Amino acid sequence: MKALQIIDYNGPETMVYQETENLSPREKEVLIKVNYSGVGLIDVIFARGFGQLELPAIPGLEVAGTVMELGAGVTGLQVGDRVAGLTINTLSGFSDLVSLHEDYVVKVPDCLGLDLAAAALTNTTTALVFLKEIVRLEAGSSVLVYGATGGLGSQIGQTAKLLGAKKVIAVVSNEERRQKAMDLGYDAAYLRETFFNSSEEKFDLIVDPVGGEHRKDNLQKLNTHGTLAILGNASQEEHADIDPDILWLNNINLIGFNFGGYCSQHIKTVHDYLIWTLKLVANNQIQLPELFTAPIDNAVQALLDLEEGKINGKLLLKHP
Ligand SMILES: NC(=O)c1ccc[n+]([C@@H]2O[C@H](COP(=O)([O-])OP(=O)(O)OC[C@H]3O[C@@H](n4cnc5c(N)ncnc54)[C@H](OP(=O)(O)O)[C@@H]3O)[C@@H](O)[C@H]2O)c1
Repeated sequence: MKALQIIDYNGPETMVYQETENLSPREKEVLIKVNYSGVGLIDVIFARGFGQLELPAIPGLEVAGTVMELGAGVTGLQVGDRVAGLTINTLSGFSDLVSLHEDYVVKVPDCLGLDLAAAALTNTTTALVFLKEIVRLEAGSSVLVYGATGGLGSQIGQTAKLLGAKKVIAVVSNEERRQKAMDLGYDAAYLRETFFNSSEEKFDLIVDPVGGEHRKDNLQKLNTHGTLAILGNASQEEHADIDPDILWLNNINLIGFNFGGYCSQHIKTVHDYLIWTLKLVANNQIQLPELFTAPIDNAVQALLDLEEGKINGKLLLKHP
């Protein structure tokens, strides 16, 4: 079998789709023939050396395909089933075959394409788990989302609405994305450059997967007992230091969350959320961002486009 691998830290340019060890499922594992691998910005950030993955490394947080073989003791799945699998704790998603513990695998509803299943798995489930289990979003809350039309941001905004937020506002980098944000159902959308000067509004929750120079200024945009949540650093910019005394003096909260860490400790809980994610997408209750598909054996340009912010949506790699 082949996989798209990171062989050095020079970015997507030097990644290669090459032969790797064949797999067979161990006890409780499901061997999946992958049709689509979902790509997150983090995968190209890994290829630039973030996290210093042991090389060669196979990135990729999510896949969708069909069950090829079952390890001993797997229940509830059969060879040939259409499934989606979370590779977030094994980082092997850019492979033609993956072998995953059954807890990380869910059936894909008949009416849902495997492309959509792969596209939804990490980001929509991150949004659900983060809003339900971590911040326990209350109905009637006001929420601000950075990178609001991106892979993760688009799911945070819609999920917040679904869970009863009364006002969900987008911050994006350009006019085209502002329009996209409105199409995704945000109540209003601001440009990042002008947001701090054009709005006096305050929020119960600010979700920031983007980072950058204004990250710390968001603390001034919180209501009392409001929370600034750091979910990533898509901009890869340096940040100004945050003075922790601001938190107690203003009765505000600062938290971080990463879905991978949560999955490694709570996969049984996450399994139920994965099922919910696919149902929401299948029932059109959550809209995915625009999908872009590249063949896995010719994906370098698409990965570079993602890194340069030219792909606004969700990139998928299609396997032969
Ligand atoms: N914490 C978690 O569990 C979790 C889960 C999934 C993803 N993430 C993180 O969330 C971030 C976004 O991931 P994603 O896969 O959703 O990426 P994405 O689809 O590429 O979206 C990233 C968004 O960030 C903004 N951005 C600002 N500067 C950027 C730059 N230099 N390059 C690219 N985007 C830039 C863009 O929005 P504007 O142009 O509108 O500002 C873009 O829409 C990443 O840092 C990722 O690691 C975290």
